[in-house]
Formats: sequence, C-alpha cells, structure tokens
Amino acid sequence: MPDSQVMEKLVSLCKRRGFVFQSSEIYGGLNGAWDYGPLGVELLKNIKECWWREMTFRQNIEGIDAAILMHPRTWEASGHVENFTDPMVDCRQCKSRYRLDILFEEVSAKKQKEILRELDPERFKGQQRDEAVLKEFQTLAEGSPGAILAAMSCPNCGNRGTFTEARKFNLMFKTFVGPVEDSGSVVYLRPETAQGIFVNFLNVQSAARQKLPFGIAQIGKAFRNEINTKNFLFRTREFEQMEMQFFCRPGTDVGHFEYWREQRFAWFLSLGIPQENLRWHRHEPGKLAHYAKDAYDIEFKFPFGWGEIEGIHNRTDYDLSRHEEFSGKNMKYFDEASKEKFIPYIIETSAGASRSFMAFLVNAYAEEEAPTAEGGKELRVVMKFHPDLAPVKAAVFPLVNRDGMPEIARKIEDDLRRRLRIFYDDSGAVGRRYRRQDEIGTPFCITVDSETLENQTVTVRDRDSMRQERIASDRLCDYLLKKTTPRAEGNPVRGQ
Ligand code: GAP
Repeated sequence: MPDSQVMEKLVSLCKRRGFVFQSSEIYGGLNGAWDYGPLGVELLKNIKECWWREMTFRQNIEGIDAAILMHPRTWEASGHVENFTDPMVDCRQCKSRYRLDILFEEVSAKKQKEILRELDPERFKGQQRDEAVLKEFQTLAEGSPGAILAAMSCPNCGNRGTFTEARKFNLMFKTFVGPVEDSGSVVYLRPETAQGIFVNFLNVQSAARQKLPFGIAQIGKAFRNEINTKNFLFRTREFEQMEMQFFCRPGTDVGHFEYWREQRFAWFLSLGIPQENLRWHRHEPGKLAHYAKDAYDIEFKFPFGWGEIEGIHNRTDYDLSRHEEFSGKNMKYFDEASKEKFIPYIIETSAGASRSFMAFLVNAYAEEEAPTAEGGKELRVVMKFHPDLAPVKAAVFPLVNRDGMPEIARKIEDDLRRRLRIFYDDSGAVGRRYRRQDEIGTPFCITVDSETLENQTVTVRDRDSMRQERIASDRLCDYLLKKTTPRAEGNPVRGQ
C-alpha cells in the first residue's frame, strides 16, 4: 500500500472510531491543534502511564508537575528568547509562509540541479550524481539562501522570485498576566517542560533527600508557534512532552548519557516497535542546540519518512549555570561526602507524548486476511497495539441475545469494568463484532455461549492470532490484568 494511503486511512480511522478529531472542527478547524476522542485519550493516557512507570519506578527518579506559565526571565536564561527561532520566508504574491529549511528540503533532486545550473551554468552543466548536487545545494542554502530563493517558485501559487528575505521568527507563544497588556506583563506558554524541572532542582533534591546522581521526570503540555504544522500529529502547535532530566557529577556525564540512550531505545522496543522501524540520528557538532554537548534523536519510520520521536541530550551545566546567573540564586549541589559545591551536568531524555502516540498508531496499523463464518476470506483492519497501550482491554459478547446469555455477559462486564476498560457489544454477528474490536485494537474478546451455561467457561479470542481458548469466567479478571496492564515485575526498583 502506498505510504500516503496509510496516512489517509489512519486519519480517517482516527476520526471514525474516536481516536483524534480536528480541533474546533465545526468552525473549520484550527491548524496545528487536535482533540483526543474517547479512544485517543485512553491510548495517550496509557502511553504516559507506561512512561511514568518506566521512569519513576526507580529509587533515584522523582516526579513533578510544574506550572505552564513561568517567570519570563526563565526563557531569557534558557536562551529561548534569543535562540528559539526559525528562519521564515513569505511569498509576496499568495502570502503563504514557509520555514526556510523545510522549503529547501522539499525541493526535488531534479529541481535542485536546475537551480544550480541556472546559478552557475559552467560548473553544473554536466551530469552530476544526486548526492553531489544535494551537498552543493545544501552548502548554498546555508551560505546564500537568497540566491536560491530568487530562482525558486512558490510551491503554492507557482510564481517565481516572489519570496521575501528570510527573517527570524520566535516560536514561543506570548500572552499577558493581569489586566494590562504591556511589555511588563508578558509571559510565555512554555515551549518545553524541561525548564520547570531545572528551576525546581534544589527544591526537589532537598524535599526528596536525593543525592546525585538522580533525575526528575515530568509529563506536560508544551506550545510552539510552528510555522508549518504538518503530518497530522507530528508537528503541532500544542503537544505533550514526557521529559526526564538526570543530574550528575561532571565527568560522569558521558556514562549516564550512554545508559539513558540505551534505556530509552529499549522502551520503544518493549512496547512493540520493531528495531527496523527505529534508528539513531546523531546531531553533527555544528548543528547541536545551543545548550548541548552531544545529542541523539530516536527516529521512527513514519509513512512520510524518518522523524524524531525523542531527543537525548547532554546539556552539560548550561541550564543550571544560566539560571544561577539570571536569578542570582545559588543552583549548586553540595556533596556531603567530599564537601564540594558544584553545578551538576544534566542528561535529558525528551520524548513527545503526542509524537509517540502517532508512532504507536502507525506501528499498530495492519490490513490482513481473516476467515469469515461462511468459510471464506475477508480483509480485516487491525490495530496491533501492545496490550499495555490498548485503549480498550477486552470486549464482552453474548453469542445470542437469549437463553440467559446476555445476563451472564452483563455480569462479567460489570465485574471486569471495576478494574479495566471494557466494551459490551450484543449487536450483529460475532464475526462483525470481532472486526469492530480489531479496528480499535482490543486485545481480547470474550464470548458467552451455550457451554458457559453448562460449565461457566467463556471463549477468549486473541486479537493477533485470532485463536480462542476457554477460560473459567471467575479467572477472567486475573487473566486480563496480567496480560493487559504494565507489569510490576517488569519494573523492579532500579537505580543506576
Ligand atoms: N527539552 C528539549 C526539547 O524540547 P525537542 O527536540 O525540541 O527538545 C523533544 O523536543 C520532543 O518533543 C521531540 O522529540 C518531539 O517528540 C516532541 N516535539 C517537539 N516539537 C513538537 C511539535 N511541534 N509537535 C509535536 N511534538 C513535538
């Protein structure tokens, strides 16, 4: 199936089955904002729950939930006021706005050759290999973007030479506190959750009586006024992050960095993303963020190409030093054993909850042949979510709506509902009920049939193998809890 079709099918399934809706759809929607529906909110919650357990069920990681609005000096100290910008150009003709790097990225290899030949006919007249052209084009894009812009047509209106010069555009959303909208009352919607952790470093350390090395984890909303929102949930203006900042003694940072890289990659594997759909991207030295000494992204193979789902950074002592400088408050750690005072280094693991949501959706989507009750074959769409992530853990069906089966099925539903998300369905043939559950990724379907009336067993059908087994109805709850909730034994108390 072509990749563009997968995305179309997913977006449509998300709306039809209640995973994701366009924000304020009745008003035509709002670009870069999405609403999570009844199933989406469960999936997102399960992703966050798995992350929270993975990160905070350790003896040296504490959690916090900091405010979205922070003192505006925070963002001067962090470097966001100065550096959190994207270069942007407008088309004077149709007023479309583009992020410069993305505009250049989307120029085809053929078009790149044409532009280079036009700018320097002598040098580029012969046939060149695509990689060589790509390199030349990149060098020119970084050195003199204006020359390329003058030779390019606007992708929207097709007019040539209509681009403005590139300008810096800060991605932070501004708003005001209090009744007066002047420069003294400006605050920002946080563009990352990390700063709420840094400014609370000593509060958490002393309240929780932690010693280095230790980490602070947080899940929360972040906002970025992205110039181009695209690819469904991939780049949005409002999204959620799951971040952990690990504080350590300078000199031990490289070891901790490697440890967390390995841990974070393993987390995605443990939730069912195969190795071949994940890869590392290391930031080249010249392209590191202003605060980083080393950085790797975990990338997932989306239908539209590889895209970052989590960044792991060695942030050195940049953040705490800057907060010490801008606030005038001590941000040093006192090491009791050596009686030394120093600013710790920070290793950051920063995952997007919304981007991970999208990766888990894409990863789960499958179309397969399935047998029909009449002995034929039909196509089934099945979301093969890891059971810990599945929004609904089990569905309960009475085989027929008579002979006492609905009453038993309702009783089973009531018992299970106390512990798990359950769906009850008594309409249509059982095969059709299976298909409806497959499409939302329910791992188990329980059917009450005539044998249940005799021996209190039910059939439990597995979503992926489609095999059925008989289980005593009073064992169902334990069986499902074991198979569909994050397992405590998978999370022993850990340090590092
Ligand atoms: N504190 C570091 C930080 O924020 P980042 O690489 O800018 O680093 C971390 O963001 C993660 O947040 C990304 O890997 C991605 O999963 C998610 N993210 C960033 N911008 C996003 C956006 N506009 N929409 C959705 N997710 C985004």
